[in-house]
Amino acid sequence: MTKALTLPPLTEELAQVLIDAATIDRRVTEIADQINHDYKDIKEPLILVGVLKGSFIFLSDLCRKLTIPHIVDFIAISSYGRGGDVQGNVRLLMDVREDIAEKDVLIVEDILDSGNTLKYLQRNFATRAARSVKIASFLDKPERHKVDLKLDYMGFTIPDVWVVGYGLDYKEKYRTLPYIAEMYPVK
Ligand code: IMP
Ligand code: MG
Repeated sequence: MTKALTLPPLTEELAQVLIDAATIDRRVTEIADQINHDYKDIKEPLILVGVLKGSFIFLSDLCRKLTIPHIVDFIAISSYGRGGDVQGNVRLLMDVREDIAEKDVLIVEDILDSGNTLKYLQRNFATRAARSVKIASFLDKPERHKVDLKLDYMGFTIPDVWVVGYGLDYKEKYRTLPYIAEMYPVK
C-alpha cells in the first residue's frame, strides 16, 4: 500500500500552490505520450538536452516515461536581466557533450518567460546541423514573452507571477518542492 505523502508546508514567502504533484504527473505523462507518438519512427536516439538547472526534475520525470530510444544531455547558460527591464543577455556556461550533427534534438526547459534563453538556444543549435530541433517547456508565461517563439510541447500556461518548485527556484530555494507554488512578490 502507498503511504500518504506529507507535503512540505507553504512558507510565508509562498502564496499558494498553483499546480499540485498529481496534476503535474498526469500532464508529464501526456507530454511523454505525445513525444513517444511523434518520434515513434526515430532511427537514432532522440537527444534530450536539459537546460540546467531548472529543467532537471521535469527532464528526469519525462525521460522515464519515454519508450522511444533517447540520450540525456545537459547544457548550462546564464541570463542577465531576467525579471528586470534589461534586455536579456544569454551566455553559454557549459555545452552539451553529444555531437548533435544529424541528430534529432529536444531541448527541455523549465519555463518560457521572456523567451531570450530559448531563442538563444534555438539559434545556437541551428548552427550545428542537427536533423531537427524541437522544444519542450514545462511552463509558459505568455504575458512575459519578448520574442516570438513556438513551443512544440508545453505543460502549463501560468500568469505573470514568480513560481517555484519542480526544479524552479528563487535564489536556489524551493527547487525541490514537488508542486509549483506562486511566490508573493519580492520587495
Ligand atoms: P527567459 O526569460 O525565457 O530567458 O527565462 C530565463 C530563465 O529564468 C528560465 O529558464 C528560468 O530558469 C528562469 N525563470 C523565469 N521565470 C521564472 C519563475 O517564475 N520562477 C523560476 N525561474 C524562472
Ligand atoms: Mg531555465
